[in-house]
Amino acid sequence: MANSQRKILVTSALPYANGPIHLGHMLEYIQTDIWSRYQKLRGHECYYICADDAHGTPIMLKAQQMGLAPEAMIAQVQAEHQQDFADFNIQFDNFHSTHSEENKALASQIYLKLRDGGYIKTKTISQLFDPEKSMFLPDRFVKGTCPRCHSDDQYGDNCDNCGATYTTTDLINPKSAVSGATPIMKDSEHFFFDLPAFEGMLKEWINSGSLQIEMANKLAEWFEQGLKQWDISRDSPYFGFEIPDAPGKFFYVWLDAPIGYMGSFKNLCDKRGDINFDDFWAKDSTAELYHFIGKDIVYFHSLFWPAMLEGADLRKPTSVYAHGYVTVNGAKMSKSKGTFIKARTYLDNLHPEYLRYYYAAKLSSRIDDLDLNLEDFAQRVNSDLVGKLVNLASRTAGFISKRFDGKLAKVTDNSLTETFLAKQNVIADFYETREYGKGMREIMALADLANAFVAEAAPWQLIKQEESQERAHQVCSHALNLFRILCTYLKPVLPQLANDVEGFLQLKLTWDNLNQDLSGHEIKPFKALMQRVDMKNIQAIIDASTENLQVTSDASNEGSAAEKKDTPASHLSPLEQEPISPEISFDDFAKIDLRIARIAKAEHVKDAKKLLRLELDLGGETKQVFAGIKSAYAPEDLEGKLTVMVANLAPREMRFGTSEGMVLAAGPGGKDLWIMEPHEGAKPGMKVK
Ligand code: MSP
Ligand code: ZN
Repeated sequence: MANSQRKILVTSALPYANGPIHLGHMLEYIQTDIWSRYQKLRGHECYYICADDAHGTPIMLKAQQMGLAPEAMIAQVQAEHQQDFADFNIQFDNFHSTHSEENKALASQIYLKLRDGGYIKTKTISQLFDPEKSMFLPDRFVKGTCPRCHSDDQYGDNCDNCGATYTTTDLINPKSAVSGATPIMKDSEHFFFDLPAFEGMLKEWINSGSLQIEMANKLAEWFEQGLKQWDISRDSPYFGFEIPDAPGKFFYVWLDAPIGYMGSFKNLCDKRGDINFDDFWAKDSTAELYHFIGKDIVYFHSLFWPAMLEGADLRKPTSVYAHGYVTVNGAKMSKSKGTFIKARTYLDNLHPEYLRYYYAAKLSSRIDDLDLNLEDFAQRVNSDLVGKLVNLASRTAGFISKRFDGKLAKVTDNSLTETFLAKQNVIADFYETREYGKGMREIMALADLANAFVAEAAPWQLIKQEESQERAHQVCSHALNLFRILCTYLKPVLPQLANDVEGFLQLKLTWDNLNQDLSGHEIKPFKALMQRVDMKNIQAIIDASTENLQVTSDASNEGSAAEKKDTPASHLSPLEQEPISPEISFDDFAKIDLRIARIAKAEHVKDAKKLLRLELDLGGETKQVFAGIKSAYAPEDLEGKLTVMVANLAPREMRFGTSEGMVLAAGPGGKDLWIMEPHEGAKPGMKVK
């Protein structure tokens, strides 16, 4: 690896510091994180850099609204952002802020270079001005009547009703959205960056780079329309950096935002001391530089930014990779449908790696939008991660621990391992080219092969006969080795699972050691790695996202109405909410041992919000089950009743004790939960079939 080690700097777009991270944002951070983790796994020197984008009018006004200094607000938001990212296992090498000393110094350095190169022009322009607030108004902060269709309450740059675009000054009866005052026109001198001067260079850069075809086409369109001078200054009051030679004038937020990539990296270099900033940014740098962004900010990253870098005598990006937008259940994320899902709301209910896997499984290198279909999400995760991946270990590891002292056998027939290893370059290429969806399909196809091998060899049968012990040992050891390879392939996507597997298998999952020999290697007993996604948790996310909205909109109403949950989602019929699962064979069904049980005892569990502890009498054997039915049943109403339980479910260790099965219940949850009760005459212990 030493000779071919690459130096790579990777960025994701800098999230605005005036709102929470949501699942749309997360697509980008997950996509970039997988790529940078992959590069690191391959031994490259790779740094993943990000920061909060802290400047601009919306942030200034939001802070005012909250009665905070902008510095205080952005600090608070940054802490929340960083916690969200950390909990999604996004591994930044540095996360900084554009409102930093490093960024201020770099922005002013770059600006002065551009000015001295003759790329900064000034021009007096006339703009809408709020006389009450004494501030110029960005388009978004002016509302009025559409000059075309005459509908009221439209923004200053385009009409929601008829789709017309216009300049703010065309708006009929304009009003400041900040104060309600009628804006006046006012002149002011602005600074412009001479983008057209870079047209030749940009065309060359685009042709030499590995830009996505859709992006290259878009750029061609923009060239056709003609490049324009870019207004990079704003008048005071503005939250940003003052322009060095122009008191009272500030850099427009989009000037110092991409410089924030450099600012964050500079901050990292200063903290670490072993990375050379110029190695990555000087004009002659041989390091690679990639920006992952959303499709809405291509103009800034593929025109303004490379031109600024060129004008300031710095290197240009190796490439810019854009992704599409996340939709939820086929539509734009919507607050009223409960599909505007904050990262935190998701994290409160579900494992971060479910989403990492789902996005990976659906991502390609193209700019297409990506639909997070919540049904499909649950099914995909359950079938791939739990059903195929984790199952491979859970079916085989127990025998190794119980029968073979936790030691793996020397496997004599390695043909399947060979098949797995032969795929490493294909899978590597899919990571490298951001074709994660194709990569996940390759990996799951291998998982299918491994599961078919185990199902056919049936170690649970082999283990019963003295003469096939050795074969059982071989099969389980082979399966666990295949599991190890799969987890290594998935490590960039599922770092937390990989980490748990490293603990269980007692080894490091590394690409260089893919063909490790595990003969005689000792492993730890298997512990559950991942639970199935329950539609209840998904419903809880939708409810909480709708609740958030109600709490905000009812804030003036002391939140009384917030209690009332009447989400559009809950108008769906049970079948619409949870469609029938994919078909299974009779054999699959027969594996589930359902029994009639008498609830001998039911009681509350200390510190458990949702659980009741049940003692279930099977007529000769008693099992303890912790059931999440506290919201719907009082213990005394259950004692003595008959119900149906899954009697052969693997026991689960819980904080409160071991749960040795499950009782069956229907309903969405909360108070609406009904457990099964057999018709009269059924006896404890009877099999339900
Ligand atoms: N602050 C700018 C970026 C400056 S980069 C020098 C910005 N911030 S943002 O918070 O609005 O968006 C951050 C990133 O998230 C952008 O790349 C944006 O495209 C992406 N996404 C925001 N909403 C998204 C979806 N619904 N779906 C996918 N990506 C989304 O833009
Ligand atoms: Zn209109």
